[in-house]
Amino acid sequence: MLAARTESGPAEPILVDFPRARQLWSTALVAGLLIAVGVSRPGEATPGLEAYRPFTQPLQIPRTIELGAKPRTLRAGDDSQQMLPGARTPMWTFNGTFPGPTLSLQSGRVAKLRVVNDLPAEAGPLSIHLHGGHHPATEDGQPLDYLIRRHHERVYRYPMTSEGRGHHGAFLWYHDHHMDVTGRNIWRGLAGMAIVNDPADRKFGLPSGDFDIPLMIVDRRFEQDNSAPYPPGANTSPPNDAAVGDVILVNGVPQPYLDVAARRYRFRILNASNFTPYNLRLDDGSSMTQIAGGQGLLPAPVEREVINIGPAQRVEVVVDFSGQSGEKMTLESIARSQLDLGTGSPATEILQFRVGATAADPSRVPNKLRPLPDWVQEAPEVPDRTWAFGLGADARGIRWTINGRTFDPERVDAEVPRDAIETWLIVNTSQVTHLVHLHGVPFAILERNGAPPPAWEAGLEDTVTVDPGDRVAIAARFSDYLGRYTFHCHMLEHEDHGMMTQFEVVE
Ligand code: C2O
Ligand code: CU
Ligand code: CU
Repeated sequence: MLAARTESGPAEPILVDFPRARQLWSTALVAGLLIAVGVSRPGEATPGLEAYRPFTQPLQIPRTIELGAKPRTLRAGDDSQQMLPGARTPMWTFNGTFPGPTLSLQSGRVAKLRVVNDLPAEAGPLSIHLHGGHHPATEDGQPLDYLIRRHHERVYRYPMTSEGRGHHGAFLWYHDHHMDVTGRNIWRGLAGMAIVNDPADRKFGLPSGDFDIPLMIVDRRFEQDNSAPYPPGANTSPPNDAAVGDVILVNGVPQPYLDVAARRYRFRILNASNFTPYNLRLDDGSSMTQIAGGQGLLPAPVEREVINIGPAQRVEVVVDFSGQSGEKMTLESIARSQLDLGTGSPATEILQFRVGATAADPSRVPNKLRPLPDWVQEAPEVPDRTWAFGLGADARGIRWTINGRTFDPERVDAEVPRDAIETWLIVNTSQVTHLVHLHGVPFAILERNGAPPPAWEAGLEDTVTVDPGDRVAIAARFSDYLGRYTFHCHMLEHEDHGMMTQFEVVE
């Protein structure tokens, strides 16, 4: 147990009733049902949503770009993508696709990424963040610094080392992080996946190559003309601000299918939705073997029937299709049971697997994977800092706050000595779930509500679910780099509406 800290906590936030985001789910459910039964309105053409049926399009896998010392380019541009039948959907994309290309980075090898901003003027400047990476503050994609203006470019340099060794293997992602408009920019398409390959992970013999598949899940809301503008709900004032949609896209394809062989697969799953957590399950009731969280392999694999994954989180699972040739099964999200305790998940189908012939399968899932680093043992029992995520107000009206304050890029709320191992207590004083994300360094979850974390939270993470009333203690070692980094909620409208702070690593 962590010893209680005796000093007085932050000011009580204003609590506002929160009916709306839950209602959004019933709206989404109704819309989903209409889609499922193929309701069409008489006299209208049936483009777009009305002609759309789940599991009619194959899953696409974004192309991979290998990063190294010679910079490779991502061009942010105004493009369109075929998503629904009929008109293409206008988007802002990297290299013309949503998701953007998957970045492949090698542990221990410098990776350079050139980003060119060719977006229309209304998009404003960009700041590209490799989410979950450990790199200097200048390379981190800050909300207001080192911006890439229109028709300009910059090269990000990621050392891919950590404390003198290679960066651990992990499934990361990248996205725009510009001040106040991150939610809009990611919704419009400025996001992609990234994989850090660590040769040390090869010895585990997990499924690899064609049997290792990254999946980016998002929800989007489409208009009659197939456009997907940033939805009005996103700009309402906290606590009702949420960009949610009623169509689930996997790697940019609405509810696709995937032909698989009857063998084991590794799926790297990213929830890149603005607000929506999913409660993932296989519809035939079989379990998934979770092998990794946000910062790579867990100490040991965990069998899971339902996996809750909030915005910005990643989970990696192995699914064994052997013995199921000719079957179909669906990855779905089931409604979250304790709706009263936090932000709900929609009931929706996501991805259909069509199992083909048996294939040779040399892969395995060992019963021990990657242990936590030793420094976690040295984390202080008494939290060094407490961070209350809540609702408050500033001159702009009701806003999301951390310790009663909204984001101010000029203000630093914590100075952390370099190489310090600190324990931070995160408290949710609001009635909405928050997905708390730390930049710069990975963290270990020490405690969740006074108990050790469940086995699936026993690895390193960078984003943690904190439901209303939850008290979650995390520990991090702030190694290598000096400078300012952000700490914020990754529900993107919360982030854009104040729920962000900065800490500075100092000598
Ligand atoms: Cu994925 Cu600060 O963000
Ligand atoms: Cu991040
Ligand atoms: Cu939040």
